[in-house]
Amino acid sequence: MTTEIKPNVHWVGAIDWNIRDFHGYSTPAGSTYNAYLIKDEKIALFDTVKKEFFSDLLHNIHRLVEPEKIDYLIINHVELDHSGSLPQVIDLIKPEKIFCSPMGLKAIEAHFHPRDWPLEVVKSGDTLSLGKKTVHFLETKMLHWPDSMFSYIPEDKLLISSDAFGEHWATSKRFDDEVDNHMLMKHALKYYANILMIFSPQVQKLLAQVAEMGLDIDMIAPDHGIIWRKSPSMIIEAYDRWSRQENREKAVIVYDTMWKSTEKMAHAIYSGLVEEGVEVQIMNAHVNHRSDIITEILDARALVLGSPTLNNNILPRMADVLTYLKGLRPKDKFAASFGSFGWSGEAVKHLNGYIEAMGLELVDEGVKTKNVPDHEALALSVELGRKIGRKVMGKE
Ligand code: FEO
Repeated sequence: MTTEIKPNVHWVGAIDWNIRDFHGYSTPAGSTYNAYLIKDEKIALFDTVKKEFFSDLLHNIHRLVEPEKIDYLIINHVELDHSGSLPQVIDLIKPEKIFCSPMGLKAIEAHFHPRDWPLEVVKSGDTLSLGKKTVHFLETKMLHWPDSMFSYIPEDKLLISSDAFGEHWATSKRFDDEVDNHMLMKHALKYYANILMIFSPQVQKLLAQVAEMGLDIDMIAPDHGIIWRKSPSMIIEAYDRWSRQENREKAVIVYDTMWKSTEKMAHAIYSGLVEEGVEVQIMNAHVNHRSDIITEILDARALVLGSPTLNNNILPRMADVLTYLKGLRPKDKFAASFGSFGWSGEAVKHLNGYIEAMGLELVDEGVKTKNVPDHEALALSVELGRKIGRKVMGKE
């Protein structure tokens, strides 16, 4: 099924109802691989789809035009969820030209080793006339790959934004005014936290650049999820907020536990934080996926990490979460650690090491409890919570 999103601009992508893991990011609601076809004097296809969805793309194109009539392919991004079916598409349509960014050319060469594809490099500021419509190219390096670029169609005030402003959400609806706004922003937030948090400085620069260029945008069509036609400004403003990594009076306690002692400490720290007026989210790494934990951390002002000591180290699920979190480069958070131990008790030291490696502010050396915490030991955890809470609430 296709959808006309602007006059002679059609969504021809694929819906992936079944994907549940997107390179380590949990996608319980599936995803979409959006591709767009413009029918003008020249016919242009913007991006393709994952390899296994080639026939869906082809079927959609067939409903609008004979695929062989497509003149141009525009490759905004070379990651395989958008380019996996590129070789089959090129074999079939034999395009007159394939446009990509300078880094896109390198990525296409490295992925597909093409010999005779009619590749043409475009840079920021270059334009391509399709007849009545024009494509303006804007390189968006590291949003989120070096090759990424936007395509802007001024005649339609349409921004085809590649991975930016997307969500992993399989739905039969295509537009923001057709879906529940709370669900939409929840999916968009998770997408930002897991894909783009690391590139927040680049997002800030891009938003400033777009504002300076004065692009008149009334629709944003990303490569995943929902098309923003009612409120493109809503997602632009959210990206501005998220990329500043603005936080609020909220703490996230992330822990794993072996015999529930570290869990008891987590609950005591929670009490201390709440007593100081902090909103707290407890995330047990055993039952929460790393990508959901990261989503909660994005707007938190404090991060509290807990693990018992296992083999002179931390529990593996905490190492998983912290390796992932460190790569996403969170910033501007108070942090501390806690954990129970049997005889050596290195976990808190290791957790503090992660905090320091992430450049977060360690507010306390942490609390350790031997085996099962008694009332006095739990009181130390409550006091740690209160100390962090006072920092979060700006009381010290
Ligand atoms: Fe949706 Fe970076 O690929």
